[in-house]
Amino acid sequence: MATSLRPAVLVTFLIATIFAIAHAQTSTSPPPPPPAVPAGWTTVTNTSDLAIQQVGQFAVRIYALSTGKLRLGFVDVVSGRTQPFNGGFNYQLVITVSDGPAPRNYLPYNASVWGILGTMSWKLWSFTIVV
Ligand SMILES: *[C@@H]1O[C@H](CO)[C@@H](O)[C@H](O)[C@H]1NC(C)=O
Ligand SMILES: *[C@@H]1O[C@H](CO)[C@@H](O)[C@H](O)[C@H]1NC(C)=O
Repeated sequence: MATSLRPAVLVTFLIATIFAIAHAQTSTSPPPPPPAVPAGWTTVTNTSDLAIQQVGQFAVRIYALSTGKLRLGFVDVVSGRTQPFNGGFNYQLVITVSDGPAPRNYLPYNASVWGILGTMSWKLWSFTIVV
């Protein structure tokens, strides 16, 4: 499994515009309250699942390599949801990341990843700190 996440082969960035596309509000009636989990997404029930942990590790590794922030380290997946997409799954994970040797800080990041388990096909869509 670890080799299937080798970054050099896998890094593909999709520009954040996909996520920035605004939702046009055409109706004048108030929007319904947002659902806890958007349609089409399934909440990850076990964030300790090996595959979920590996997706989290992949996201941190790719982000660290692509930004030169090599001290960032994966700690844990806090929560997540998945959505079938393009033959695989989109993963939206909140990940705890450490920022280096002691005294280290632990920071929550929001990662969007797409991939097909057991293959070399993985992409990091976005990786942003949760404010
Ligand atoms: C969650 O996954 C981990 C790792 O596979 C496993 O050890 C644990 O028992 C699972 N927990 C539940 C509640 O299924
Ligand atoms: C994570 O990012 C997605 C969009 O990329 C957004 O819908 C979601 O609300 C964010 N979650 C957190 C906890 O910031």
